[in-house]
Amino acid sequence: MAEALLQIENLKMHFPVYKGALIRKEVNRVRAVDGLNFNIFKGETLGLVGESGCGKSTTGRSIIQLYRPTEGTVKFDGKDLTKLSKSELHPYRRDLQMIFQDPYASLNPRMTVGDIISEPLKVHNLATGGIQKRVQELMETTGLDPRFIRRYPHEFSGGQRQRIGIARALASEPKFIVCDEPISALDVSIQAQVINLMEDLQKDFGLTYLFIAHDLAAVRQISDRIAVMYLGKMVELADGEEMYAHPTHPYTQALISAVPIPDPEVEATRERIVLAGDVPSPLNPPTGCVFHTRCPFAYERCKKEVPEFQEAGPGHFVACHLVDEPERRKDAPNAPNDREKRAAIAAMNNAIKSGGLDKSEEE
Ligand SMILES: Nc1ncnc2c1ncn2[C@@H]1O[C@H](COP(=O)(O)OP(=O)(O)OP(=O)(O)O)[C@@H](O)[C@H]1O
Ligand code: SF4
Ligand SMILES: [Mg+2]
Repeated sequence: MAEALLQIENLKMHFPVYKGALIRKEVNRVRAVDGLNFNIFKGETLGLVGESGCGKSTTGRSIIQLYRPTEGTVKFDGKDLTKLSKSELHPYRRDLQMIFQDPYASLNPRMTVGDIISEPLKVHNLATGGIQKRVQELMETTGLDPRFIRRYPHEFSGGQRQRIGIARALASEPKFIVCDEPISALDVSIQAQVINLMEDLQKDFGLTYLFIAHDLAAVRQISDRIAVMYLGKMVELADGEEMYAHPTHPYTQALISAVPIPDPEVEATRERIVLAGDVPSPLNPPTGCVFHTRCPFAYERCKKEVPEFQEAGPGHFVACHLVDEPERRKDAPNAPNDREKRAAIAAMNNAIKSGGLDKSEEE
């Protein structure tokens, strides 16, 4: 049985919305993350996917306590981080790091690479053998030329800047890193190199990752397990292979059918599960199952009852009433037929086989 590094229970992060200039009054809440229950195992990469605004970044930030959650517990090595004061949390900050989507925006343009990477060393009183030596070691580990220690972020390419971000995250010798869309801002030709580097570092340093991305194809290579979010909720969680072989939640099935296929002929003839309408606002999420306004299988119960996030198969969790009432799938008037669903999953597998990431050299 895999050992949990993080145990997340009923995690909620609501952002209050205020009105009034003089007397501020809370009038509503953005339910960015609304009751998540899952574990992250030691040494694994858990991929987290979902459409823009579904709460992926907020989840990552709430886990490492960059945001202090509204409700719930986040146990790290058995200790509930949400109960700790700022000073009690300080030593844990070393273990919990983050890599950001836009390496340029997340690096201070007025600081040299040396200053950027040495910051966590100073904050946590590390590198007693010499800060410069340690920074250069970290630069080498992440594939940067240590002679460039006095250069500024703008003097590096996008891929190299992301390496600086990774070196900074590694400096405090963390156990867990939230990787928030670390490759989406990079050229396709560079993405594979950054992924390969992250995989090597994970092996060498025994790291655990939460790897956030917009779509399922982007997390397939790196993830051991995959979690799918929709409007602040986790709707499905399974082993990577299992998720592609048996996507069970209607939203996951739709996401899989939307993955672009590199072959234009296959792309032109494929069938997709198109979801009706837009993602509702997290200010006013739908009652019952939050996906019911767009789900092709929705029925009466879905409007009233929140589906439990339950184990539908070994290690395969799904939040959908169809787990209890599978016969409803066949009866649903708007449901995609089996042929469409099979075509969507086959298309996804083809996309992965024929696409892959371009492995050309970084300049
Ligand atoms: N600091 C904040 N204050 C108020 N609302 C916020 C804040 N941060 C995020 N939100 C809202 O919470 C919801 C979830 O945002 P979040 O950034 O976590 O989504 P995401 O899944 O990471 O999206 P993207 O894929 O675009 O990065 C959004 O509706 C967003 O507008
Ligand atoms: S609970 Fe109902 S609305 Fe929600 S995903 Fe399942 S079938 Fe669709
Ligand atoms: Mg985000």
